[in-house]
Amino acid sequence: MKFFTKKQDLKAYISSKKAKNKTIGFVPTMGALHKGHLSLIKKAKKKNDIVVVSIFVNPTQFDKQEDLVKYPKTLENDTLLLEKVACDVLFNPSVEEIYNTNVTAENFDFDGLEHQMEGKFRDGHFNGVGTIVKTLFKIVTPNKAYFGEKDFQQLQIIKKMVKQNHLKVKIKGCPIFREDDGLAMSSRNTRLTEAQRKAAPFIYQTLQKAKQKSSTTTITNITNWVQNEFKNHPLLTLEYFTIAEEKTLKTVKNKESNKKYRAFIAVFAGKIRLIDNIQL
Ligand code: PAF
Repeated sequence: MKFFTKKQDLKAYISSKKAKNKTIGFVPTMGALHKGHLSLIKKAKKKNDIVVVSIFVNPTQFDKQEDLVKYPKTLENDTLLLEKVACDVLFNPSVEEIYNTNVTAENFDFDGLEHQMEGKFRDGHFNGVGTIVKTLFKIVTPNKAYFGEKDFQQLQIIKKMVKQNHLKVKIKGCPIFREDDGLAMSSRNTRLTEAQRKAAPFIYQTLQKAKQKSSTTTITNITNWVQNEFKNHPLLTLEYFTIAEEKTLKTVKNKESNKKYRAFIAVFAGKIRLIDNIQL
């Protein structure tokens, strides 16, 4: 596997491959890789000649300094995992390499997608995500880029950014990868205490029950039911539960037959914030 820390070196490598008509698949990550990331890389391997993975803990997408500082950093293990899945290139730049001395995010207008759900609770988060993904796309110039559906709002926002900026990359959304007990895989799961980890599958169990209920009862009833389920939970605190239309991400009270909907949830286990979603 090739290892780059400088964007100019990576750009030169990619140009040499593109000159030979090789296609580039890209999986941007913040490291602490798990099976979910590896499944994205395996998908990218099948459809592209060269697969580039970036590991960059992007400071501008964190609204809480503590979350940034405590974000797991496991580069050695990540490198081993990437070698096992035959990743071709790892790009691991420093903050200075990406932002120079100006560690700030661009201000985006994603046609309102950024104001829904996560946007209401994580100030500036999607400006940070938009900034880093756009920057990385300019460096890597991928043909295809792969993102997990766990961060469904991020996926829709990146698709919007690609459209708005007329970028040539095709965005591929990939299904959520889950632990055997249903918990959506996330780098943050490693920060859970044993008791929190045991409690966390309750999140997906609740989503599954909400989905079952969605064919027989109203969205208001489901939302009230979910809020009640978490009310007295000793370890998990509900931040939000909402049912939204997939394209606009707007919360709905009633479903229309020609549109797709998902239930979205954000929950705190202590200070660790976990998100998940399910298609209805
Ligand atoms: O989903 C993530 O890990 C990050 O938000 C991303 C897309 C790598 C941007 O930093």
